[in-house]
Amino acid sequence: MTNSPSHIGIISLGHYVPKRVLTNRDLEKLVETSDEWIVTRTGINERHVAAKGERTCDMASLAAQEALAKAGMTADQIELIIVATATPDHNFPSTACLVQKAIGASKAAAFDLSAACSGFLFAFTTAEQFLKTGLYKNALVIAAEKMTRILDWNDRSTCVLFGDGAGACILAPVKGKSGILSDYLHAKGEFADMMYVSTYRKKPCDQANTLIQAPHIIMHGQELFKIAVNSMAEAIEIAAQKAGIKLSDIDCIVPHQANDRIISAIAKKLDVPKEKVFINIQKYGNMSAASIAVALYEAVEEGRIKKGDTVALVTFGAGLVVAANIVKW
Ligand code: ACO
Repeated sequence: MTNSPSHIGIISLGHYVPKRVLTNRDLEKLVETSDEWIVTRTGINERHVAAKGERTCDMASLAAQEALAKAGMTADQIELIIVATATPDHNFPSTACLVQKAIGASKAAAFDLSAACSGFLFAFTTAEQFLKTGLYKNALVIAAEKMTRILDWNDRSTCVLFGDGAGACILAPVKGKSGILSDYLHAKGEFADMMYVSTYRKKPCDQANTLIQAPHIIMHGQELFKIAVNSMAEAIEIAAQKAGIKLSDIDCIVPHQANDRIISAIAKKLDVPKEKVFINIQKYGNMSAASIAVALYEAVEEGRIKKGDTVALVTFGAGLVVAANIVKW
């Protein structure tokens, strides 16, 4: 059990997804794919796509504002902002500083954190440490991604998988037994070439099928699939052990939403009924770091997570980076 006398807990959650929806049928017009293939192989029906000019920091700010409203807080009360993103608007300034400006969190320290799809939990655990030491009294943790900016729309093996969106939470010390019970962060750099963003010119094409120089995702899907299942199942086991609980004590697992089949395989490996696992990939695809933040938001809003529940959060991402937390609601 890694719980210190003052537990850090989630005070509120927020989210934002862009209005525009891109369905599998829409993608059939762009690449040689089918609704049937995408649904069967991934569980995705549709994803949201940021509007032209809609930036990562815009989505992050809207998610943050909802979290602030739900907490009954004003932005100037926030002491720390961490934005997890693999798709920042600039190399610098950080997305966190742009969010700080947009929401008016004038008293906060702010920085970005890069851990691909595991970014939200890496930021979550990082913020928790700052709060445990007492350096800050609260933290706004945001995950925001404009994945459609780094997709090659002619590569059917990746462009059907991802979407845009943002999720946010406010962390602060909480009373009683609720709060974060354990943390597990791990990196496996030996698998760095399994998935990366390339800026080489070879592949990406624009709508007119002209080769362009643009960042785009290179991914070894099949190999990643197996590592994802094993790593996430192991991460939950380690986090549960650190929290001093059994797997059967977990009421809800909220995993990274990369593929419905990966999620099913994790549930099977851990012998956890799939009904205990929250899934929303069908609506959003893989929003990288934002996926688990939005999933957690919806799990709470839909009553799948209730006061007193024990929740397991688990992610993996390019790096490879794996993370899990056990949280008592
Ligand atoms: N539509 C139709 N056919 C397709 C498509 C498509 N969109 N994409 C690939 N295919 C074809 C392939 O070309 C291949 O054809 P072939 O048999 O003639 O060679 C066939 O479908 C099977 O391809 P596979 O890659 O073997 O398909 P698989 O069942 O492994 O599914 C997928 C691919 C969905 C990518 C899966 O491997 C996966 O989800 N892997 C994990 C990916 C992942 O988690 N990525 C994110 C990790 S980190 C992060 O979230 C940032």
